[in-house]
Amino acid sequence: MKITSATPSDLDQLLSFRKEAAAWISRLGSDQWSRPYPADRLLATIEAGTVFMLRHEGRTAGTITLTPEAEEGLWSAEELAEPSMFVNKLTIARDYAGQNLGGVLLDWAGDRAYRAGAKWLRLDAWTSNERLQRYYLEQGFEHVRTVLEGGAVNGGPRVSGWLAQRSARPANHDLADETPAPKPLHA
Ligand SMILES: CC(C)(COP(=O)(O)OP(=O)(O)OC[C@H]1O[C@@H](n2cnc3c(N)ncnc32)[C@H](O)[C@@H]1OP(=O)(O)O)[C@@H](O)C(=O)NCCC(=O)NCCS
Repeated sequence: MKITSATPSDLDQLLSFRKEAAAWISRLGSDQWSRPYPADRLLATIEAGTVFMLRHEGRTAGTITLTPEAEEGLWSAEELAEPSMFVNKLTIARDYAGQNLGGVLLDWAGDRAYRAGAKWLRLDAWTSNERLQRYYLEQGFEHVRTVLEGGAVNGGPRVSGWLAQRSARPANHDLADETPAPKPLHA
C-alpha cells in the first residue's frame, strides 16, 4: 500500500468514491453525506495539496484530507491557538473495508501532523451519526463537544459538529509514503 498526493486527474474518482460511500452510509440509516460534495470545492482542496490517496496495485483503496485550516465556527480561539491539523473526508472503498485501513490513515495523518509541528489531530464528525462517533472513540479520539448551531445553510443546524481530538504523534504505519514533506505549521 502506498500513499500519494491527489492530483486534479483524481477528481472524478474522488467524486464517485464519495457517492459510493454516501450510498453505503444511507443503507446504514444515516443521512450523512447525502448531499453531493461540490466539485469546485473538492478541486480547490486537491490543488491546495491537502488531499491524499491510498493506493494498492493501481487501485484507489481510500482517501483522507489533512489540512491546517479549521472549519469556521467550530473551534474556540483558545483551541485554535494550539497547533492542530484537521482530518476531513476519511473514506475507505468498500472492497478494502474491515482491515482497519481507516486506522492506518489516521495514524499516518497523526504522524504527518506531528512532523508539521501540530499538537492535535482534530476532526468534526456527523452530529447525528453515533456509530461513526463510536468509531472515532475506538480510534483513540476524545470527544471535545458537539456544536449544534451555525450550519452553512441559512445558519441552520450544524450537520457536522461532533468535535474530537487525539494527540498528534509519530506512528509506524507501514505505508510507502510518496507525499512531499509537510509544511511546518508555524513557518
Ligand atoms: C470510516 C472508514 C474510513 C473506516 O474504514 P475501515 O478501517 O475499513 O473500517 P470499517 O469500514 O470496517 O468501519 C469500522 C466500523 O465503523 C462503522 N462505520 C464507519 N463509517 C460509518 C458511518 N459513516 N456511519 C456508520 N457507521 C460507520 C462500520 O460500519 C464498522 O462497523 P462494524 O465494526 O460494526 O462493522 C470507512 O468505514 C468509511 O469510509 N466510512 C464512510 C465514510 C465516513 O463516514 N468517513 C468519516 C467521515 S468523518
